[in-house]
Amino acid sequence: MGPAVDLTDLDMWVRGVPYREFARLRRDAPVAWSEEQAPNSGFWSVLRYADIVAASRDVATFSSARGISFEEPTDEDMAARRTIIDTDPPDHTKLRKILSGSFTQRAVAVYEHFVTGLTEEVLDAGLPGGGVRSEPFDFVDAIAKEVPIRVLAKIMGLPTDDLPLFIDLGDRLIANTDPEVTDVVWGRDDTDAYRRFPFRSPYGKQLWDLGRDIVRDKLRSPGDDLLSTLLRAEVDGDRLSETDIDNFFSIMVIAGNETTRIAVAQGVLAFCEHPDQWERLRAEPSLVDTATEEVLRWTCPTHFMRRTATADTELGGAAIKAGDKVVLWYVSGNMDDAEFDHPEVFDIARSPNRHLSFGRGGPHLCLGAHLARLEVRVVLTALARRVARFELAGEPRRIRSNFTNGLRQLPVRVHT
Ligand code: HEM
Repeated sequence: MGPAVDLTDLDMWVRGVPYREFARLRRDAPVAWSEEQAPNSGFWSVLRYADIVAASRDVATFSSARGISFEEPTDEDMAARRTIIDTDPPDHTKLRKILSGSFTQRAVAVYEHFVTGLTEEVLDAGLPGGGVRSEPFDFVDAIAKEVPIRVLAKIMGLPTDDLPLFIDLGDRLIANTDPEVTDVVWGRDDTDAYRRFPFRSPYGKQLWDLGRDIVRDKLRSPGDDLLSTLLRAEVDGDRLSETDIDNFFSIMVIAGNETTRIAVAQGVLAFCEHPDQWERLRAEPSLVDTATEEVLRWTCPTHFMRRTATADTELGGAAIKAGDKVVLWYVSGNMDDAEFDHPEVFDIARSPNRHLSFGRGGPHLCLGAHLARLEVRVVLTALARRVARFELAGEPRRIRSNFTNGLRQLPVRVHT
């Protein structure tokens, strides 16, 4: 039995995440096959928590080397665009080693002071003042989008003048299926000319070009930032190639920006819908760590990662063939009642909370997880000090995508 809805129907995702269908599939068809239109060849959906973790762990059978999206790139496309996320061990292990030391919990704790100061500045500028019930404003534009890109700029050593351009290019890439965000829409337009660029988009090329300008300056005056670390790095005695640097640059800008923005914006939406949980956080600020994890579970900024089977295998009762595309739906696993008590309840004190929002069990576990946690925790803490209540002031507008749980707009009022 396959899904009763088309999980590649992006207009459906604009209306919301198909939680009900995922629940039915977890029960009746936990690893389900969907046909796709040519040139794609169909895919397996893995819906249960335990199966997702098992597939993530078994990298020999479930490979990342054909990419992590629904697209079917050729070998040449893949060679041009491959980032760390599209590699398997041992290549992956070598690339990961270059940056892993910069992203440990201890390493990112150094940024807490910076993130706190930055957040206060963003709230000073973005939160409407005056009066106990503010005018409506767009939380995504005023606040959520401002913090992650500035943190990334600091850590990577990017010039702040380019930040609006980074935000714009990153949006056009991650939302490459939304005609209201980009004019070159994957699945609608002929994107063949851009197949070698990130997200099969001309804006991927623009991001590379921007990265190259920055790299040129960085080579002249290196620092102790991540980009300088990448430029100094050696793998098997060789420096990274220009293509490797291009691709590292683009994955960092894309993975580190939009995802955290979604967690913050969708988190505030969750608190609009669960005002009791916001009151609870304000009354008990020490709950901020568990609240951060619950916001991450609930908002699941990246709905899935794709793998490709390297051999015939069995998962959750399904017979998977070598070469099959296998989609690990983290957004479904986060709602699996075999792992979580009452997963449908948004509970900021939930513990344990081994959510899948950063992946789990495999080597690709989000490199920026500690940084993202730090950002979400700092923003929640700062907001809880200033905002008594969030009130939805209009329809949130979702990005047209089955990959990201992004919001284009979140109209809210704040009560102070
Ligand atoms: C709430 C925010 C974030 C979420 C939900 C998120 C989610 C993810 C997920 C699901 C993966 C793939 C895991 C897998 O395949 O099993 C991933 C990988 C990755 N993330 Fe994040 N991420 C976030 C923030 C960040 C930040 C802030 C950075 C960097 C500054 C970052 C950098 C990366 C990188 C480089 C990878 C690839 C790691 C690898 O392949 O080894 N992410 N992230």
